[in-house]
Amino acid sequence: MDPIIVASKLTKTYASGFQALKGVDLTIRRGEIFALLGPNGAGKTTLIGVICGIVNATSGTVLADGHDIVRDYRAARTKIGLVPQELSTDMFETVWNAVTFSRGLFGKPKDPAHVEKVLRDLSLWEKRDSKIMTLSGGMKRRLLIAKALSHEPRILFLDEPTAGVDVELRRDMWKMVRELRERGVTVILTTHYIEEAEEMADRIGVINKGEIILVEEKAALMQKLGQKQLTLILQRPLASIPEALSEYALELSDDKSRLVFSFQSEAERARIAGLLRALAELGIDFKDLQTRESSLEEIFVSLVRSDA
Ligand SMILES: Nc1ncnc2c1ncn2[C@@H]1O[C@H](COP(=O)(O)OP(=O)(O)O)[C@@H](O)[C@H]1O
Ligand SMILES: [Mg+2]
Repeated sequence: MDPIIVASKLTKTYASGFQALKGVDLTIRRGEIFALLGPNGAGKTTLIGVICGIVNATSGTVLADGHDIVRDYRAARTKIGLVPQELSTDMFETVWNAVTFSRGLFGKPKDPAHVEKVLRDLSLWEKRDSKIMTLSGGMKRRLLIAKALSHEPRILFLDEPTAGVDVELRRDMWKMVRELRERGVTVILTTHYIEEAEEMADRIGVINKGEIILVEEKAALMQKLGQKQLTLILQRPLASIPEALSEYALELSDDKSRLVFSFQSEAERARIAGLLRALAELGIDFKDLQTRESSLEEIFVSLVRSDA
């Protein structure tokens, strides 16, 4: 793996005494879309604030494309763009000036063609001479992205990019994030929407109470933890699970009216036919059957709960 961000043993204790990060180790791969998923207050904004050099860590180190974010601040900072969770920008400024100024902050030479491209990509070109305060909420959010892209960063952080935005804008954002990745930009987004992580990410890290509790390829995470279940609703309650079915790891519901077969792999799924035949031979009839897959949502809830 070719790491682009390496965070080691990061801790953050705020002046209030609250410990928001408790020894975070995290490596981001070059070119991936990484979703940092966690409930409100988990430490997502603090963590990306530290990596972006906005929040001082209490201890630990971060390398951004090989540059230490403290000792080699300038070099690290030019690699990184941050789309903050909250809009904080000069409302009286025009769109064009805000983006141009942002680029200047990173010491990059003026490049009107790049600014134009960014504004066009984000459907803000028509609004280039408008004052920010006249923009709609969705446009203001796109402006934050335009500012973050003004200096051509190789790593883009999006802090809750779609919190409170409408469905259409959310789709646009997802599309834009994928396009950025195609151009070789590494994208790290934080979200408390499981759907977003599931839809967007190559890998998912779950953070809770200042600790990373899991990092996995999305597909592996879904497979490893995503249990599938077949539930048979019986015609007549069963006193107990017959001995002849012991090879199937079945569970009988408390009211004895349902048999539940849990499986994870395709090989286990293939045993369903045999199970149904065995039930028929035993004269156990069912009136209905249901299948379900646990979603990332349930996985997430169970992880966060078991961690509590
Ligand atoms: N400036 C601060 N001073 C004290 N506590 C803070 C400060 N900023 C954040 N916190 C606390 O740190 C925890 C993590 O916050 P944050 O990183 O914003 O979480 P998230 O982005 O996952 O919602 C929260 O309990 C929050 O109240
Ligand atoms: Mg946050």
